[in-house]
Amino acid sequence: MNKKIYAANWKLNKTPEEAREFVIKLKNDIFKIPDFFSNREVMIFPSAFALEAVSSLCAGTDIQFGPQNVYAEKSGAFTGENSAEVAKSLQAGVALVGHSERREIFKEQDDTLNKKVAVLQSLQVLPVFCIGETLAQREAGKTLDVCYSQLNNGLKEINKELRLVVAYEPVWAIGTGKVATKEQVAEVHAKLFEYLSSQGFKNVQLLYGGSVKPENAGELLKIPHVDGFLIGGASLQPDSFLKISTAQ
Ligand code: 13P
Repeated sequence: MNKKIYAANWKLNKTPEEAREFVIKLKNDIFKIPDFFSNREVMIFPSAFALEAVSSLCAGTDIQFGPQNVYAEKSGAFTGENSAEVAKSLQAGVALVGHSERREIFKEQDDTLNKKVAVLQSLQVLPVFCIGETLAQREAGKTLDVCYSQLNNGLKEINKELRLVVAYEPVWAIGTGKVATKEQVAEVHAKLFEYLSSQGFKNVQLLYGGSVKPENAGELLKIPHVDGFLIGGASLQPDSFLKISTAQ
């Protein structure tokens, strides 16, 4: 059985110093839990300026880390962007792609996301590809269509043999405190699992994201095809992140 994944998306929060404090505390607390990593994977996604700080403290541990976004080219005249190659040189092993805030605020399109996933795969960095519907799309009964289209168009040219993580994050549940119901998560995850298998993806794990908290993590984790969480607000404090990571 795959290990459960607990992924912290810090978004635009934490200085390098705050990131270091978090990792030091997290490592100390994890150390007290026997066999913590035997059935869990932990991933941290700091903002770009804090990546090196996280890298320096996670080197040689089982804590994985990586950027929240990379550019579709590895290098060149792209002022202001962040390179997957540079992240890799800092030992990043994972990267977020297509978070709804990237799609909505920064207008990232499927074809660009495709290139980003391909660049990451070429560097052996594991993409965590984010999908999810808006409230209007859900209310119009389009949740699955939107998710399938995001998967289809954003993962067109990628190698389906390689490991991939897909995070289903309904946009209306992000940062709102409105977690999707068990039934909603169960339905979408079952369909996504079916769909990805039918499309030939050989090694995919599915995360849920959107107002995950220590109080709801245990219940959500029991839902079939929920292989872990992508956590925003509740991942900013080591205590709540660890409570989610150990919830039953
Ligand atoms: P919240 O956990 O704050 O709702 O954020 C979810 C998210 O966007 C993680 O990527």
